[in-house]
Amino acid sequence: MTNLPLKNNRIDHYTIIVPNGKEVSEFHEQVLGYPFLELKNINTGTAPQGTYDMANYIMEWPDHSGRLLVITEGLTEASIFHRFMLKYGQGIHHIALEIDDVDAAFATLQENNIRLTSPKVVTDMLSGLKQCFIDNTDTGVFIELIERKRDVSAVPDTSQKGFFTENNMSELAGTMQSYLEEGGGSRAVRHSDIDTYSYEKQLTDLRLSTFTIEVPDVQRALRFYADVLGFTRAISARGEPELYLAQEPNIRFHIRPLGREGFNCRLRCTTNSLESAPGTMDGNPFRTQVIDDVSYLDKQKSGYDLEIAGAGVFQRAGTSAATAA
Ligand SMILES: [Fe+2]
Repeated sequence: MTNLPLKNNRIDHYTIIVPNGKEVSEFHEQVLGYPFLELKNINTGTAPQGTYDMANYIMEWPDHSGRLLVITEGLTEASIFHRFMLKYGQGIHHIALEIDDVDAAFATLQENNIRLTSPKVVTDMLSGLKQCFIDNTDTGVFIELIERKRDVSAVPDTSQKGFFTENNMSELAGTMQSYLEEGGGSRAVRHSDIDTYSYEKQLTDLRLSTFTIEVPDVQRALRFYADVLGFTRAISARGEPELYLAQEPNIRFHIRPLGREGFNCRLRCTTNSLESAPGTMDGNPFRTQVIDDVSYLDKQKSGYDLEIAGAGVFQRAGTSAATAA
């Protein structure tokens, strides 16, 4: 393919869509150690003037690398992300790769007939922030490309942690419209009004380790990630194919056959902080399932399929592999 693969720098952020952004952001901040940066409420066009239809909780990854988690909640029945959740369920919506030149990448993708969600790059005129989405058919999740200006002359500085613009967020939301046109509406979405809870202890060294993405065609997806997006192919310790970005060898992408409908991406993190934070989960009101030292978190709290691997991190002393009540 001409001028492909793209040359990627690194992951910039991943975005989840949930019905209860505040609760999920507090869980990430207080238990998982994601620093909260900003709440960005915007109106993508479905709310009356002066009100909002989309809340975005911008969190930094717990490794303080400047990479981000965006927790998105559609605030009205009509909002795109509320409707998206009705159709596809809650979970990881996209993973964003920071690259140097989104305009050039966009042109290259078009030349190679790679499907994008919009006919042009979404560009914030003031800051120069550029973003676009690659269709999720081959990749399982939407892949966003984002260009952040890091040179000092850029005003405002888009490389600031958590920098997004209302213009771009609103326009990008609009590019998802076509994914809502057929079917859907069958999933119940419950907006949570649960009181916030103060968690007692926090994991101190959570590291993002593996995105597992389910796709209809594994071989096709492996080729797409490698030949279009520039991922390196490898074989995991368990003998299965995996992918990684050259500059981020510690974050692996596993591609698996599609097991169910809707959102199909889960994240595994690792921690060694059991010793430094014993009893982290004691008394905290969420349920986990623990199987072979991997804890599966309650999606109501985490917002998406999130696993924590580590020696019994979420187990109370003396319990064995079991569902914690
Ligand atoms: Fe994004």
